Amino acid sequence: MRRLRSLSTRLIVYWIAGSLITFFILPPILNLLMSALALFEPATNLESWTTRRARMIVADALRQDADGAKFIAMTDDLRSYAAANPAFRYAALEIGTNTPLRGSSHELAPFFQRLEGFDMHAAAFHLESDPNLDARGFERTMHTPIGRAKIIVYGSQFHWDDVFYQIYASFSAFNMVSYGLSAGALSLIALVVVRRGLAPLRAVAAKVSQIDVNSLRQRIPADDLPMELSPFIDAVNTALRRVDDGVARQKRFTANSAHELRTPITVLTTRVEKLAATPLKLDIQRDVRRIHTIVEQLLVLAQISEKPETAAAPNPLDLVEALVAIVADLAPVALDNHRCLELEAPSGPIYIRAYRWAIESVVDNLIENAIRAEPENGVVLVRATAGATIEVIDHGPGIAPAERGMIFEPFWRGGDDTPGTGLGLSIARELAEKMQGSIAVEETPGGGATFLVRFPPCEAVSASEPL
Ligand SMILES: Nc1ncnc2c1ncn2[C@@H]1O[C@H](COP(=O)(O)OP(=O)(O)OP(=O)(O)O)[C@@H](O)[C@H]1O
Ligand SMILES: [Mg+2]
Repeated sequence: MRRLRSLSTRLIVYWIAGSLITFFILPPILNLLMSALALFEPATNLESWTTRRARMIVADALRQDADGAKFIAMTDDLRSYAAANPAFRYAALEIGTNTPLRGSSHELAPFFQRLEGFDMHAAAFHLESDPNLDARGFERTMHTPIGRAKIIVYGSQFHWDDVFYQIYASFSAFNMVSYGLSAGALSLIALVVVRRGLAPLRAVAAKVSQIDVNSLRQRIPADDLPMELSPFIDAVNTALRRVDDGVARQKRFTANSAHELRTPITVLTTRVEKLAATPLKLDIQRDVRRIHTIVEQLLVLAQISEKPETAAAPNPLDLVEALVAIVADLAPVALDNHRCLELEAPSGPIYIRAYRWAIESVVDNLIENAIRAEPENGVVLVRATAGATIEVIDHGPGIAPAERGMIFEPFWRGGDDTPGTGLGLSIARELAEKMQGSIAVEETPGGGATFLVRFPPCEAVSASEPL
């Protein structure tokens, strides 16, 4: 059977199974055990275990003949019960007159007949003539097929099948209805309790789903949660702490490695410069520059994640002025590669809150990529709009929609035919996001890639705020 996944359904099923056993099956068995150990008055047990069944059999045997005379018929049940209980006596009396019905035992009726003026509803007694001192008789007023009557039984003995009868009798219509109602009510309570009890867990789940590598310091508060969930919350918090420590160690390792590599690279650069000018020297110089760039990129990444506030500058920066300087620096590089680099920007300033080095790093990365992608003699366009958006537009192969989600991942590269590490765009995204901005890629109309960097614009600079 498939395990029940819903906690409320599980609670209800277990409760119904448990209560069925507790209400209907356990009491007869416990009673039996107590009787066996003689923990209670034998008479009480005799009543509950044997005579209840005996009385029902006698009551069911009551009939009325054509003349209206009532009598106890010898039914199959009565015959087999009497056969199994040799000392069994029984009688039925009319209510009011206490007249014994035909078929009643002569030993039992006389006492009750003498009780004129008394309507005895229930009684236990012992016949003095009986040498078995534990033998008990019971009298009860009962509903029978021919109306109310007093049923008297005496000398029933306990048999094992009485237990099954007792269990069977406990499944009466009345018991079933009252059990059904209480089961319904408790099921509703279980539903409400589970739903309400687990509501804080849903809030916690929403909180946990927000946690990413930048918010690993968060911990889940266990205050509002049911106590039973504390071990789970503790485990989640411990796991978060471990992951946080691990990530911090990794970041430190990257930062330290990059930092340690700086000095040998500087030494290497100086040594290479001393080499005789040959084509091999130029190749080695290019390789060393590449290694230098990678190490610097790794350092920037480590710096960004260590100090999340690094890129958000306290003072506004004029984006247009920054872009003019960046494009001026990179235009010769583009020309060397037989491409053009152009800037399109409003004549006035556009203010954003960002450090200049961060903007330079983002835009440099995008322009480098665009120059690489742009076909020979093409034009890479850098456009700034008044809404604090930078667009870097090329007309190269563009980026397939399926790859647009991956290009910002560290070390992801489209192919090995161009030089690069695959860190440029991931650094650009980290920086843009740290400046409360965003970065996205679209297709250039007519083909190519357009990278869009958006920043929240800030109010015009007041006179007191230095740039
Ligand atoms: N303008 C573009 N046109 C086409 N593909 C691009 C463009 N910009 C980036 N890509 C693709 O995205 C990949 C990742 O770019 P990213 O800048 O992160 O790394 P890289 O340029 O390969 O190396 P790095 O920037 O670290 O030197 C590139 O390898 C390239 O395949
Ligand atoms: Mg790049």
